[in-house]
Amino acid sequence: MRMPTELHLHLEGTLEPEMTFRLAEQNRLDLPWRDPDELRARFDFTDLQSFLDLYTMSQEVLRTGEDFHALTDAYLARAAAAGVRHAEVSLDLQAHTGRGVRAAEVLDGVTSALQAAPGRHGLSAGLIVTVLRHLPGEAALATVREVVESGYPVLGLGLCSTELTAHARDFVEAFDLARAHGLHLTAHAGEEGPPQNVTGVLDHLRVERVDHGVRACGDPALVARLVAQRIPLTVCPVSNLRLRVVDALHEHPLRRMLDSGVMVTLNSDDPAYFGGYLDEVTDRTAEALDLGEEHLSTLARNGIDAAWVEESRRRELH
Ligand code: HPA
Ligand code: ZN
Repeated sequence: MRMPTELHLHLEGTLEPEMTFRLAEQNRLDLPWRDPDELRARFDFTDLQSFLDLYTMSQEVLRTGEDFHALTDAYLARAAAAGVRHAEVSLDLQAHTGRGVRAAEVLDGVTSALQAAPGRHGLSAGLIVTVLRHLPGEAALATVREVVESGYPVLGLGLCSTELTAHARDFVEAFDLARAHGLHLTAHAGEEGPPQNVTGVLDHLRVERVDHGVRACGDPALVARLVAQRIPLTVCPVSNLRLRVVDALHEHPLRRMLDSGVMVTLNSDDPAYFGGYLDEVTDRTAEALDLGEEHLSTLARNGIDAAWVEESRRRELH
C-alpha cells in the first residue's frame, strides 16, 4: 500500500548529492567532497546534530530562486512516483536568509513549484515555513513577520533543529503571530528530547500536530492526552533509525502507538540523507513492524485527516 499524503518532509532534506554537485558547478562553489559518492559516504550519522551539520553544509549550494524551484520540483516528481497525492513540505527559511539569500528569492522558487504541482505532477502541495530552535525567539518572530507580510502562499509554521537547547516558551510570540494570520501550526518535539518537550509545544505553542513525538511513548498520561485530543504525530521511522533515536526498525514504537489509538502518520523527513522516499519508508516500516492492511489503512487515513486541506479536497483524498 502507498501513503496518499506526506506531512513531514524537509525540502533541504531532499537535496540529492548529484544535485548538490550540479548546483555547486552552476554557482561556482567549491565543495569539500570529490564527488556525489564521497558525499553520500558521509551519510552515516550518530545523532541528530551530526546530521544537521552535514545538512546545513550541503545547503550552501542553494543560491537562486531557480535552485529552490528545481529542488522542489524534483521532490514533487519523486513524491508523485511514490504515490503521494498531497504533500506539505517544510522549508528552513532562516537557514537561507542567514547566509544572504533573500527570502523573496527562496519563497518565489519554492511556491512557484508547489503551485505547478497539480498540473505537472498530479498532486496538491503546500508550504510550511520552519523556524530554527537553535536561533533566538526574536529571530523566529521576525521571520514570521516577514513571511506573513510577503504575501506568498504559506500554509503553516513549524519549529525544527536541535531540541536540546531552547524551550518552546521562547517561540510563543512567533507562533501567536502566525496563528493570528491564519497559519496552521506544528513543531518538532519528542524526537531526541523528552516527553515534556511534546507537552511544551502543545501547551505553549498550541500546535495542531507534532513532528516526530515518538518519545511521548515513555509517558502514559501524555499518550492518553494525544489519543483524547486526536493530535496527529508525523512519525518518520527510517529517520529515527538513521539518527539513532531507535536502535533497530523492529523496535520502533510506531505500531504500539497506533495500537494505543494515537493518530500516527507516516513520513520520510529527509529522504536524500536517510535513504528512502515515502514508498520505501512504507515498505521498510511495514516489513520491520509486520504491519498488515489494517495498520497501513489507518496510517493512510490518519495522513488524510491530519492534512491541512479544504474538506472537499479531504473527501477526494479519502
Ligand atoms: N529534526 C529536527 N530538525 C530537522 C530534522 C529533524 O529530524 N530534519 C531536518 N531538520
Ligand atoms: Zn523533521
